[in-house]
Amino acid sequence: MTNRIAVVAGVAAVLLLVRLDAQSTHLGALRPPQPPPHFSQTTWDSVYTTTQATRGESLYKVTCIKCHGPDLAGGDDGAPLAGTLFLGNWTGLPLNDLYEKMRTTMPSDSPKSVPPEQLIDILAHILAKNQFPAGVKLLTTDSMLLKDIKIQQNKPDTTRPPF
Ligand code: HEC
Repeated sequence: MTNRIAVVAGVAAVLLLVRLDAQSTHLGALRPPQPPPHFSQTTWDSVYTTTQATRGESLYKVTCIKCHGPDLAGGDDGAPLAGTLFLGNWTGLPLNDLYEKMRTTMPSDSPKSVPPEQLIDILAHILAKNQFPAGVKLLTTDSMLLKDIKIQQNKPDTTRPPF
């Protein structure tokens, strides 16, 4: 008798779960899709200056080149910091993620040894080496700014009119 009750209760519970599940799926379909993270700029919007990138190149030669190579191609001691493989890793992510990776872990033999204002110039050099255009805006360590710039591998289609 107790068994029968247990079975009935079990079946009822399963039926309830199935119903709840169906309902949530139904509601899920009605709920508007979550918007993707909003960025007002991408790495194609000239987010650093040539002066910065030039300064960054000199700094890169002092602290990063021994592991990441002269062309940022990487090697036995470091990952590539330019090219398809590198950009494929980071595309769609905020520039802040890349900066934070550098700030907290690099140079790997002496993390946090490079001051932020130098690291941001090195980041400008990395952007230049990945063929992103320079402009008049300074790249700064402001995390609000860095979170608002999307790393985008492919150049946006500019043949469409902006309206
Ligand atoms: C002693 C060697 C060494 C030095 C010096 C070094 N790195 Fe690295 N770096 C590595 C290694 C190894 C990796 C791959 C492992 C990892 O991601 O932590 C890496 C990964 C990275 C990445 C992530 C690449 C990716 O696609 O995930 C960035 C960005 C980076 N380094 C930037 C720098 C910068 C900027 C400097 C100079 C300030 C620097 N590194 C100095 C060894 C080094």
